[in-house]
Amino acid sequence: MCAKTIHDTNHITYESLLAGNKKFVADTLDLDPEYFTKLANGQNPPVLWIGCADSRVPANQITNTRPGEIFVHRNIANMVIHTDMNMLSVLDYAVNVLKVRHVIVTGHYGCGGVIAAMSNQEFGLIDNWLRHIKDVYRLYADELGSIEDEDKRVDRLVELNVIENAYNLCKTSIVQNAWAKGQPLAVHGWVYSLETGIITDMNVSTQNNKNMDDVFRFSPPTP
Ligand code: CO
Repeated sequence: MCAKTIHDTNHITYESLLAGNKKFVADTLDLDPEYFTKLANGQNPPVLWIGCADSRVPANQITNTRPGEIFVHRNIANMVIHTDMNMLSVLDYAVNVLKVRHVIVTGHYGCGGVIAAMSNQEFGLIDNWLRHIKDVYRLYADELGSIEDEDKRVDRLVELNVIENAYNLCKTSIVQNAWAKGQPLAVHGWVYSLETGIITDMNVSTQNNKNMDDVFRFSPPTP
């Protein structure tokens, strides 16, 4: 028998978080006494990250970036749902105020939200959120149905869910209006591997609405 070892979190307590903060401040000031003074003056992140809430996929650590460098929105299964005021507000602020140049939807293999959506089990309130992933499944039912290995099918649905949510970003008036104004803005889809730490680019990078299904286009195709 080989038991899976899971990262031990027993040492994390309410008090240890505050102690950790003190250490973070001391270590940071050691390296750069001006660090907080500079950051407090404002933010200018070039990237908006839309990722899964999963504790193992923190935007900054896995891209070797620091505070101030990525604007982050996370929810279960990195969804872009066109009625989600939270996501839309983050996107609007990132695109129109911060003027980010990249928006990246980042999913991860083995995503619990995707696994749940693929099953027939009822989980409660969250089923309404996961329903959007079932819609992605239906869109690609032929391809997914032909994958016999269940883990591989989950992983392919993770990829397709990232691709569809990147397209969902392109369908918003926020992104299309930025393109119509000539603002440089690219939408991407990435998948992170919990097992290797490596990010795979799904190569869906989109910088205009040229190839979009006509019904989703708000204006003439952007250059
Ligand atoms: Co997840």
